Amino acid sequence: MEQRRILVGVTGGIAAYKAPELVRALRRAGHAVRCVMTPEATSFVTPLVLQTLTGAPVTTDVLDPSQEGEIDHIALADWAELLVVAPATANTLARLANGLADEPVSTVALATRAPLLVAPAMNVNMWQHPATQRNVATLKERGVRVVGPDVGELACGWEGEGRMSDPAEIAAVAELALGSRSLQSEVVLVTAGGTREPVDAVRYLGNRSSGKMGFAVAEEAARRGAEVVLVTAPTGLATPAGVRRVDVESATEMRDAVLVEFDKASIVIKSAAVADFRPVAPSARKLKKEDLPEGAGLTLELERNPDILAELCRRKDDRTIVGFAAESHDVVAAAQRKLERKGCDLMVANDISRAGTGFDVDHNTVVFIWPGGEIEELPTLPKAEVAAQLLDRVEKLRGGTK
Ligand code: PMT
Repeated sequence: MEQRRILVGVTGGIAAYKAPELVRALRRAGHAVRCVMTPEATSFVTPLVLQTLTGAPVTTDVLDPSQEGEIDHIALADWAELLVVAPATANTLARLANGLADEPVSTVALATRAPLLVAPAMNVNMWQHPATQRNVATLKERGVRVVGPDVGELACGWEGEGRMSDPAEIAAVAELALGSRSLQSEVVLVTAGGTREPVDAVRYLGNRSSGKMGFAVAEEAARRGAEVVLVTAPTGLATPAGVRRVDVESATEMRDAVLVEFDKASIVIKSAAVADFRPVAPSARKLKKEDLPEGAGLTLELERNPDILAELCRRKDDRTIVGFAAESHDVVAAAQRKLERKGCDLMVANDISRAGTGFDVDHNTVVFIWPGGEIEELPTLPKAEVAAQLLDRVEKLRGGTK
């Protein structure tokens, strides 16, 4: 099995005694494992045990200069391809749900861009408490995987839900959470964000795209082992781990950057919202109303931008090219027309008429539109999940099974 980098976060519950077993299961599967512990966890299992099993120093204090010298907590967060918190106490779930960073495990969890898997373990009443259930729901909404807890006899003497799942089961779910390296031999070019078309020195014509959809696709493709280039219009988003980012502003800049990367790419996913028009004569200076006759309006003359997607599709060869279409009405029919006009392999139609999905939010409601007329409707999903579903389809296309 291929070696992956797994960080195990151990927190302070009696189930921490099973953490060494989890580490051994992950090591047996061939993975590189490191551990980070809360201070409370060290009362249940010693760092030396985990250090011996992992062959690596264990982080128990992010303020200890000697520990931070070996590998600092941010480097540890960056190193991880997956963070598994096992056991995850009620207190830890609350910290993770609320973004606290007051001990090593939650600090690393906040800093990492790796997917998170938690294995809760606690007293049945603590588990069933509405506060804990709310925290778990928050984490799930964010895409965190939860394994267990199982039902059974609890260390506290109660019977019920609260036992940490078996280490073997947690290790199996960790494999799923790591994802395959199924795009390892591919070069994926992703576009994201909304282009800005300059009007003058300070103003531009833009749109509401945040880049979240494209960044999610880039992140997932990198997680699946692809070499990923992300050509993005301005956004405040952090570059996903393992992704090469090229920043652009306007549609013409995006076209130029995309064409530079296109030769090497085997898969192109165009989730950017590209302006169809740009001002003909942007002013190098700031336009001032004082320069116009009193009360006069301003007319901007616009010209067409290049259609990047259509241009790429004309040079497609054996690449797989996916377009996105944000539609507010007649979603499927409008996206089908775009698919035919541009000539891509798959069009992802977003229904942006629904509240809370589409531009500048964390969810998307999409329909996959295939050239043969087939359509696949997905429920409203977090953009990370839309990205995963999309790349599953792309893999089938590449494998010739779609
Ligand atoms: O960024 P987010 O806030 O997460 O929002 C995501 C999104 C809603 C912007 C994204 O999911 C999306 O739907 N992107 C496409 C927006 C759109 O409607 O594009 P379009 O219909 O103008 O273009 C269709 C396709 O052609 C797109 O793949 C686009 O990148 C491409 N195009 C469009 C115009 C142009 N001049 N060149 C292009 O390549």
